[in-house]
Amino acid sequence: MEILGIDIGGSGIKGAPVNVKTGELLAPRHRIATPQPSKPKAVAEVVGEVAKFFNWQGPIGAGFPAVIQHGVARTAANIHKSWINTDAMQLFGKATGCPVTVVNDADAAGMAEMVFGAGKGRKGVVLLVTIGTGLGTSVFVDGLLLPNTEFGHIEIDCEDAELRASDAARKEHELSWQKWASRLDTYLLRLEALIWPDLIILGGGVSKNHKKFIPRLTVQAEVVPAETLNEAGIIGAAIAAASQN
Ligand code: BGC
Repeated sequence: MEILGIDIGGSGIKGAPVNVKTGELLAPRHRIATPQPSKPKAVAEVVGEVAKFFNWQGPIGAGFPAVIQHGVARTAANIHKSWINTDAMQLFGKATGCPVTVVNDADAAGMAEMVFGAGKGRKGVVLLVTIGTGLGTSVFVDGLLLPNTEFGHIEIDCEDAELRASDAARKEHELSWQKWASRLDTYLLRLEALIWPDLIILGGGVSKNHKKFIPRLTVQAEVVPAETLNEAGIIGAAIAAASQN
């Protein structure tokens, strides 16, 4: 089955057709910068453009950087606030003329890792943290997703964890790998104390530099980099749509 996967992020909107049986991208991904301000109408237009680029007529899965309940966005940390309570599923459906399944972006990345990546066949509690502009999390118990965990926003030293330990924070504060790894470690230790994962998968663009920070982490859980890297969001969004179609 082929599904168009679209990963909507704070800086870019990327899409590619995915073979959901193998996890392969069937064409190079197409990326368009996220419009600023990232209001619903403008973002939906770009989602429509991505579908048009592939001449797409069929199911679409979209990962979105917010809590998504039954297609409706409920939060907006790194996207325009007017998304709150917007029916993303309906909006993207109109913009593309196709049925669209919308899920949280970290949940999508987690699904890709559980099916095709570092979490494949793993039982017990698996936590995936995507590290980018924000800190996104997804949690699986024996392969089953608990959707919309927003553990990127737990407080550390009276501050939103995302503002301390995301990749955006590393760049903004020009932190060395050592300093940033220590912040990430504090964050993961807190999460470990709360949900005791057996396996932690670290994803997002920064995971390609995993050798610079994973060896510095002190959590008890096994920590591994994501295997589907930059494509996790696209592949996972397509998997989510496949389960609806
Ligand atoms: C949002 C999450 C999202 C994460 C990664 C956070 O700021 O609250 O919903 O998964 O960023 O994009």
